[in-house]
Amino acid sequence: MKFFVDTADVAEIADLAATGLVDGVTTNPSLVAKTGRPFLDVLAEICRLVDGPVSAEVTATDQAGMLREAERLLAVAKNVCIKVPLTIDGLKACRALSARGVAVNVTLCFSPAQALLAAKAGATFVSPFVGRLDDVAHDGMRLIADIVQIFRNYPAFRTEVLVASVRHPGHVVEAARLGAHVATLPPAVIRQLVRHPLTDKGLEAFLADWAKTGQIIA
Ligand code: G3P
Repeated sequence: MKFFVDTADVAEIADLAATGLVDGVTTNPSLVAKTGRPFLDVLAEICRLVDGPVSAEVTATDQAGMLREAERLLAVAKNVCIKVPLTIDGLKACRALSARGVAVNVTLCFSPAQALLAAKAGATFVSPFVGRLDDVAHDGMRLIADIVQIFRNYPAFRTEVLVASVRHPGHVVEAARLGAHVATLPPAVIRQLVRHPLTDKGLEAFLADWAKTGQIIA
C-alpha cells in the first residue's frame, strides 16, 4: 500500500519524507490556503522534497480553465499530478489529460458511480473521501469496499483507489484489508500509526534491564 502525505506544510513533508515511508503528497486548495504562501512556490518545494506524485488541484470549474491551469501546474515539476474535482468538466479534463499521459487524481469522490466514471475517464487515482462520509453518518469504508470490488471486475481499469479524508489509523488498516492502492494521510495520522503503548513499555523495560548489565555495544 502506498502512503501519501495529505498536507501542503513543507516542514511536515520534509520530516516525514526522511522516514522513507512517503510515496507521494496530496494537496488541495484548503491545504494550500493554510500555508499562506504562493501556491506555485509551495508546489515546487514539495516536488523537490519527494520523488513520488504530488497532487496539485486546479481551481477552475470549466474544462478549458482546468486545462489551462493544468499546463501551468505541470510546468512546475515532472512529478506533478493534476487533481480535478469529480464533475462533468473535471471528467472531461481528466479524459483529455490522461489521453496525453498526464497523471490525474480525480477528487471529491463520494459514490461508487462517481469512481466508475473516474476510471472510465482514465484517472490515475480516484480519491474517495471516507472521513467526510463518516462525518455525516455514512460508512466511508463501505464506499472503499464497493469501489475495490467494482474495479476488480475490470482488469483494464488502470485507476488506483486513493483513500482520502483519513481521520485515524483504523481507516488505514481497513483500507489495506480491502486492498486499496493508496492512502493519503494527515501527518498526525502517520505518527499515530507508529505508536503503541506496549511498544513504548516494552522498549523501556528492555533498556532498563540492559542498563543493569553495565555493558555497552561498541
Ligand atoms: O486532501 C483530500 C482529502 O484528504 C481532504 O480530507 O480531512 O479535508 O476531509 P479532509
